[in-house]
Amino acid sequence: MEQTTKKNGFASGIGFVLAAAGSAVGLGNLWGFPYKTSANGGAAFVLVYILCVLFMGSIAMISEIFIGKRAQSNTVTAYKKIKKKMGWIGLLVIAVPTIIVCYYTVLGGWTLRFAVNSFQGANGLSNATSFVSFTADPIVPVVFTVLFMALAALIIMAGVKNGIEKYSKILMPALFIILVGIVIFSLTLGPGTESGLAFFLQPDFSELGFDGVVAAMGQAFFSLSLGMGTMIAYGSYTGKEIKLGKSAMMICIFDTLVALLAGLAMFPAISALMGEEFLLGLGAGASGPGLIYVVLPQVFSAMGGVGQFVSFAFFAMVVIAALTSVISIMEVSVQFIIQRFKTNRKKTTLIVASVCSLVSIPIAWSVGGAFDGGLNLFGYDFLTFLDEIANTLLMPLGAFGACLGVGWFIDKKLTANPMKTLRSLREEGVELGVFMKIYAVMVKFITPILILFVMLSGIVGKVGENGPSYWWIVGAGVLIVAFLVLAYFKFFYKTDCGENADEEKLEKTKA
Ligand code: TRP
Repeated sequence: MEQTTKKNGFASGIGFVLAAAGSAVGLGNLWGFPYKTSANGGAAFVLVYILCVLFMGSIAMISEIFIGKRAQSNTVTAYKKIKKKMGWIGLLVIAVPTIIVCYYTVLGGWTLRFAVNSFQGANGLSNATSFVSFTADPIVPVVFTVLFMALAALIIMAGVKNGIEKYSKILMPALFIILVGIVIFSLTLGPGTESGLAFFLQPDFSELGFDGVVAAMGQAFFSLSLGMGTMIAYGSYTGKEIKLGKSAMMICIFDTLVALLAGLAMFPAISALMGEEFLLGLGAGASGPGLIYVVLPQVFSAMGGVGQFVSFAFFAMVVIAALTSVISIMEVSVQFIIQRFKTNRKKTTLIVASVCSLVSIPIAWSVGGAFDGGLNLFGYDFLTFLDEIANTLLMPLGAFGACLGVGWFIDKKLTANPMKTLRSLREEGVELGVFMKIYAVMVKFITPILILFVMLSGIVGKVGENGPSYWWIVGAGVLIVAFLVLAYFKFFYKTDCGENADEEKLEKTKA
């Protein structure tokens, strides 16, 4: 008979938590969160963000890990095991992350380049012009993107235990230590830090609109790696020994803590070294990329000699964060292909990484050209176009599906009676103590409704804000979903899509 210990699962509970935290902590925390905070008026946004984590994120987190743990399989099989007709959601949460990989690695590549370049001083990338000319270069950003992808692929090839878990256990503590160090440094920069702190910590609700609320929800899902299969896939590699509720809470808390620390690292330094006027919207014209690729390099060079070291520490930390995230996004499709087509891990990873690298090249060109109107779709550079589809539409949809699945469909007889649901959840290791009943109500009613509401009003708001061209983004999203539904019922509905045990069997036959 088979051994009970898993060959290719996480070896320990803490290994799982660190790997999942590694997935969650990424560019979303170190870049997205501070720049969205800045764009949406500061502390009020932070407060709303925390509410989103509490009322939507944590509920979806528990649900996704639960779905994976219960199924011990890739996301398609996992949703099939809930209800066969829901299998297409499993396919959706494989396809969308694979799109995300293609632009996430472009940003990861930039970060790698900035880390390498930290010691170049004023001749390096310390001003806006150098950033624009760097990203507009047709070769260098692509080289760094592929390099970054190769690093991620090497880790995935080594497997869940010997790759993902092993590196997360080293890299996550390292990241945290660097971050705390930078926060301390930043808070001791002297006069001028107070206004940065106040901006980040004292809410002024007149600065926050409903679009800020929508942004906070999107940001929470993105930052917690939700709605995109990651937590289902990682959850599937856990066994009975994991305390699901506790692990989910630890992941949410750690992810939020890192986002808050990132704010504490940046805002005081920006106000102290650049001036208060840089806090809101991060100075005139500095959009998203502006924060870590334009403003921060200027902050580092204002620090004088130590700035080079701080810059290196900072960008090395961002590389770590992005790397442990990208491996989790890629693992979702690698897992599915291995199990459905019985291919081996190394070959599968190589193919996925190569295809994504190819797609990332035009994306890199498009973002670079965006500053002077190069490659674009309906006026959006490719990165923004794809990011909008994922963030505003498909990610909330995936999280909605996870809540609906656990709340209503996992077992008709059980979900009809909330008390039985609770008991069965407990048997599966979802132990939340007094919060158990709250979870049952949230996952069934409140969270799905909230997600749907914010998602729909988000679309309306975005169309109002960006004009009718935004309908192309919505249309593309709908098209992707329609295509995946068709593909699912045609190719995967009747076929067995495999489970984790298949990879173990594959390895055995090879050995
Ligand atoms: N959470 C990561 C970040 O904050 C990105 C990420 C990893 C992600 N896996 C994901 C986002 C799955 C959405 C879905 O940068």
